[in-house]
Amino acid sequence: MDHFSVIQSIIRAGLSGDTKAFDKQVVRLRARLEKAGDVKEAATIERLLKSSSEMKDIQPSRVEVSRALVFGEALTRETNPPIDRETGASLCEIHFPEGERIVPVYESRVSETIAGLLEEWSSEEALRNVGVEPTRSLLIFGPPGSGKTLTASYIAEQLGLPLVTAKIDGLISSFLGTTARNIANLFDFANRYSCVLLLDEFDALAKVRDDPQEVGEIKRVVNSLLQNLDQRRAFGVTIAITNHDRLLDPAVWRRFETHVHIGEPGLLARTKMIERFLAPLKPEPPIFSIIAYCLDGHSGADLERICISMKRLLALSGKSHDGPGLFHTLSAVLGRLPSQENEPARILASDPEAFISLIANDLDFPLKQSEIGQATGYGQSRVSDIKKSKRHLPLMEALHAQ
Ligand SMILES: Nc1ncnc2c1ncn2[C@@H]1O[C@H](COP(=O)(O)OP(=O)(O)OP(=O)(O)O)[C@@H](O)[C@H]1O
Ligand SMILES: [Mg+2]
Repeated sequence: MDHFSVIQSIIRAGLSGDTKAFDKQVVRLRARLEKAGDVKEAATIERLLKSSSEMKDIQPSRVEVSRALVFGEALTRETNPPIDRETGASLCEIHFPEGERIVPVYESRVSETIAGLLEEWSSEEALRNVGVEPTRSLLIFGPPGSGKTLTASYIAEQLGLPLVTAKIDGLISSFLGTTARNIANLFDFANRYSCVLLLDEFDALAKVRDDPQEVGEIKRVVNSLLQNLDQRRAFGVTIAITNHDRLLDPAVWRRFETHVHIGEPGLLARTKMIERFLAPLKPEPPIFSIIAYCLDGHSGADLERICISMKRLLALSGKSHDGPGLFHTLSAVLGRLPSQENEPARILASDPEAFISLIANDLDFPLKQSEIGQATGYGQSRVSDIKKSKRHLPLMEALHAQ
């Protein structure tokens, strides 16, 4: 049976729940079918991919929060946040909902979890009818720049509640007695008002815990944090964020009912973010896939930074604001960045034609030669010649030898 090995890989990825590998294998099957001349079947898979990536978007309509979910007085812009008595610094920042929601882009597993929580928070009665409470605490973890803080703001916006953000290292005072008091004051404040409490950089406490001189005192602080987290359950929603989930004490970890890992974005998620970050530029869409392929391994925050640099350079370079203009601008931007980790970016930075050769020879890459030719300005027949030259190979060898 044709393509059986790819189908097997799809099944394996699906069964293991690895959505990144699953997406990759489906794109591979589409490319194989297309190459074998099964154009209709390839188009069907393309349609399925498109509709599934649309399904992964969370609906941006505001959630009607159940009244029993959050308690307390309304925060106003005049409300003063609690302060550290030793330094006078605020223990938290307050952000009010502005009605302007940036919807984060996720892999489907993460979107489903967040959408599920929003649904719980709006359907409290249905949950009560079967004797359960909605989830009140969420731990978000993942690498830097993956959209963790953005997710917390998005949730608060969706719920129409102010977000009270405390950075844990901001609560830690050089006087540890003050730290426990700061934690208590922060939670008193959050419990008094109707809000979402966000504990950012949550691993800061774990790092202090490793200091042998502070062991006894830090234990007290962690205990006070645990107690406050337990009591908080009766008052409202709490979100904690960490980059280093392994540093967290299991007792702290257990306090959170739902854990969401936001990982590196896959090809589809990157394509979508790049399209968003390059707006208002509106080139033909295939260039987004090419840029996304090149920027594998980059976080959402990296992609945003690179897209901003591209727009700056493009605006001043006099190049056309289309696929070819963006392709060469990306090559120039990557050339100016400190050495990239990933191979495609390094190849594009040093030799755009070698990069074309790389994608044209990659069976997993979803675009046809004609689309690559159009998106990059090289044209189909030149892409075909470059493909045959395999000029990416010496560069890859040189990179591997480094
Ligand atoms: N998944 C995403 N969807 C859309 N935009 C994103 C995503 N991830 C990152 N970004 C962009 O990058 C910016 C920074 O993301 P954010 O501050 O939420 O990352 P973080 O995970 O909290 O990083 P850190 O660990 O460094 O605090 C966001 O404001 C957004 O513009
Ligand atoms: Mg953050």
